[in-house]
Amino acid sequence: MKQVLKLRNLKVIFPTNYGIIRAVESVDLDIHERECVALVGESGCGKSVTSQSVMRLIDSPPAITRVDTLEFDGRDIKDYTPKQMQEIRGKEMGMIFQDALTSLNPVMTCGKQIDEMYIRHQGLSKEEAREHTVKALELVGLPEPRKRANSFPHELSGGMRQRVLLAMAFACLPKLLIADEPTTALDVTIQAQVLSMLRNMQRGCGTALLLVTHDLSVVSAIADTVYVMYAGKIVEKAPVRELFATPHHPYTVGLMSAVPRLSDTERVFTQIPGTVPHPTQKPSGCYFHPRCQYATAECKKEMPPLKTIDSNREVRCHHPLSIRGVSHA
Ligand SMILES: Nc1ncnc2c1ncn2[C@@H]1O[C@H](COP(=O)(O)OP(=O)(O)O)[C@@H](O)[C@H]1O
Ligand SMILES: [Mg+2]
Repeated sequence: MKQVLKLRNLKVIFPTNYGIIRAVESVDLDIHERECVALVGESGCGKSVTSQSVMRLIDSPPAITRVDTLEFDGRDIKDYTPKQMQEIRGKEMGMIFQDALTSLNPVMTCGKQIDEMYIRHQGLSKEEAREHTVKALELVGLPEPRKRANSFPHELSGGMRQRVLLAMAFACLPKLLIADEPTTALDVTIQAQVLSMLRNMQRGCGTALLLVTHDLSVVSAIADTVYVMYAGKIVEKAPVRELFATPHHPYTVGLMSAVPRLSDTERVFTQIPGTVPHPTQKPSGCYFHPRCQYATAECKKEMPPLKTIDSNREVRCHHPLSIRGVSHA
């Protein structure tokens, strides 16, 4: 399948008064046509900085960014000018953020904001654009779309606003949509609706999706491939089913135990012990070792490389779990 995004060796640092924050350390990311890739990890691990770097939205200063390869749809966009990037953003690369209220213009009706996408990117007339907007709003399940198109953002609920953003993001059929915590601010039931809507729209439009979330439970229903990130580094990458069936990194297991499951009433809700390291003071060796029950002297000393396992999985661990011949019983 055609590759939509190829990112190699992304490094982003923020020099601050308290020390240097290595927000992203040598991250590689591959996204193919129609694929949903999830980037998962606790708050502060570098997910947003990674996804915004893909869109070249990280300002420097304050950030210092280095990347070996940034290819979008076969084009090297690493050195594109701000004007060239503007052409791509919103048209070929869409984005949705956590907070729909701040993403929408408060003094313009929702419909008008979507109309603009069609007018600007597809050259439609005002009237044609409105017909498309109403259809798009219908598609994302907004009740009474023609009437709602005339509502201002504050007149809609959070879930409805997120639907408006979805309609807007898909309006120009982007090749890649980046959704950063798109459901985090919503109630659980609305979350599920918006997620399935996102998945349907993504499939229907043939868009590739980069879903950024701290919540592993969100991922199982929608992602094809999952990247788990910890303290600026990718620690595990796997197809979603395999990740859930046999997580290899102890951190992934920790994230899973933190997900309460409905089917699993006996399960105790456990938390990963300890806390995420301060971004200016990451530990020696494997960054996860102070919180890892399997840590050995080697883990304290040496950062494990990202190793390929079974051709389609990767794990950054000296003693990965659930791999034949390795037992932690
Ligand atoms: N503008 C900035 N200045 C300084 N540090 C920043 C800035 N933006 C992000 N960071 C730091 O980069 C790290 C990664 O942040 P972020 O990507 O937002 O995390 P996530 O999205 O995973 O919660 C954090 O330690 C954060 O404090
Ligand atoms: Mg974030």
